[in-house]
Amino acid sequence: MNKNDYDSIIERAKQIQKEWRTVPAPKRGEVIRVFGNHLRQDIEKIGTAIMKDAKKIHAEAIGEVQEAIDMCDFAVGLSRQLYGLTIQSERPEHKLQEVYNPLGVVGVITAFNFPCAVWAWNHCVAMVCGNSVVWKGSPKAKNVTDSCKEAWDKAISECFPDTKFKDLLQIVDGDKTEAEWMADDSNINLLSATGSTEMGKALAPRVSARMGKGLYELGGNNGMIVSSHANIDLAVRGIVFGAVGTAGQRCTTLRRLIVHTSVYDVLLEKLKSAYSSLPVGDNFKEETLVGPLINQESADRMLSVLEQAKAKGYTVHGGEVVEGCTVRPAIVEATEQCDLVKTETFAPILYTMKYQDLNEAIDIHNAVPQGLSSCIFTDNVQEAETFTSAVGSDCGIVNINIGPSGAEIGGAFGGEKDTGGGRESGSDAWKQYMRRSTVTINYGKSLPLAQGIKFGD
Ligand code: UN1
Repeated sequence: MNKNDYDSIIERAKQIQKEWRTVPAPKRGEVIRVFGNHLRQDIEKIGTAIMKDAKKIHAEAIGEVQEAIDMCDFAVGLSRQLYGLTIQSERPEHKLQEVYNPLGVVGVITAFNFPCAVWAWNHCVAMVCGNSVVWKGSPKAKNVTDSCKEAWDKAISECFPDTKFKDLLQIVDGDKTEAEWMADDSNINLLSATGSTEMGKALAPRVSARMGKGLYELGGNNGMIVSSHANIDLAVRGIVFGAVGTAGQRCTTLRRLIVHTSVYDVLLEKLKSAYSSLPVGDNFKEETLVGPLINQESADRMLSVLEQAKAKGYTVHGGEVVEGCTVRPAIVEATEQCDLVKTETFAPILYTMKYQDLNEAIDIHNAVPQGLSSCIFTDNVQEAETFTSAVGSDCGIVNINIGPSGAEIGGAFGGEKDTGGGRESGSDAWKQYMRRSTVTINYGKSLPLAQGIKFGD
């Protein structure tokens, strides 16, 4: 897109937000309620666009639109709950309050793998918080961006037939250059970017250079500890969905399995048998569970990583090319957590490792640069609680007897370290989309100073 067109989009976003911020938050929530209904009506249409662009199977594509619908329900309620605290003042006849006001223009950058839901996490919250949104979807998922925009436009024109809020959401059509414009642009009050750690590390310094706010949801290299106290069949179910769902292309995909030596062999046998019967192929076919990777480049990268694993002497199960960029998921028996294991390959490769005691397992688990999602399978309460404690997982998402992927929208979503530190969707993530003012009110007739300071009294 050319820079002049970009600049006029941003100018429009700034102007329209000045009007939108004066609409009461519950009225803004009403638009999201109507939008949620349009998503419900368009669920198959948007789902089909996700199947085409992101190559997801039907159940996962529909699940993604459902996640956007859930986000609408959450944001409608939120629009009546943008609460601030009232704080006791140390001075007589004084009161401290927190007031949340809209931030301005929110820039949203999303990736191909969750082209609808991740935008909705940001959009629904940004809207009820009184912001305008400028969205750069993935160039690989244009049909999804268009169908989401269409559903939004229907909602906004239904709620405001006079078209004054027509451009409350605008699309930036582009790739790296446009992302950099957004990162450099001080008119963007919050830049929320989802994608690879590499992308985040390129954009974050540019946002920081202008003292801007950034919210990053970047790479994951998610692990699961399977303890000697685990329900193995439950773990197998969690592993298979976590590692091969969305063809291993979620930021929450399970990539590292850290297994107690006493259950390693039995678990591996069960996994090998589950993997060998996986229906891999055309994502439009009903029986398929694992569709193609996003493109040939991605498939080639997976195959090259598997070659490197073999060269290290690791045993590789699976990983055969079915056709084109459709590859069978692979299990790699890694004997150590080398650099290959520490790197996120956005494909269905699951590394397995062994451990003897829980502290060792937690050390292995935390010894990667990324910190998004984590989990432990155990029926032992001490192990489970340790994993969620100060000495446990260092991730933003910590699960017990559930795989690392498939989070609900109600909690705050995001992770630590190379994952970028951001939190999106539920809980109090909305606070990042607002400007917090600490307000001190003096309702007395004198002007006492804080800290008891006497100044000419
Ligand atoms: C992503 O892959 O960027 O928890 C998001 C999950 C989904 C979201 C994934 N709810 O797997």
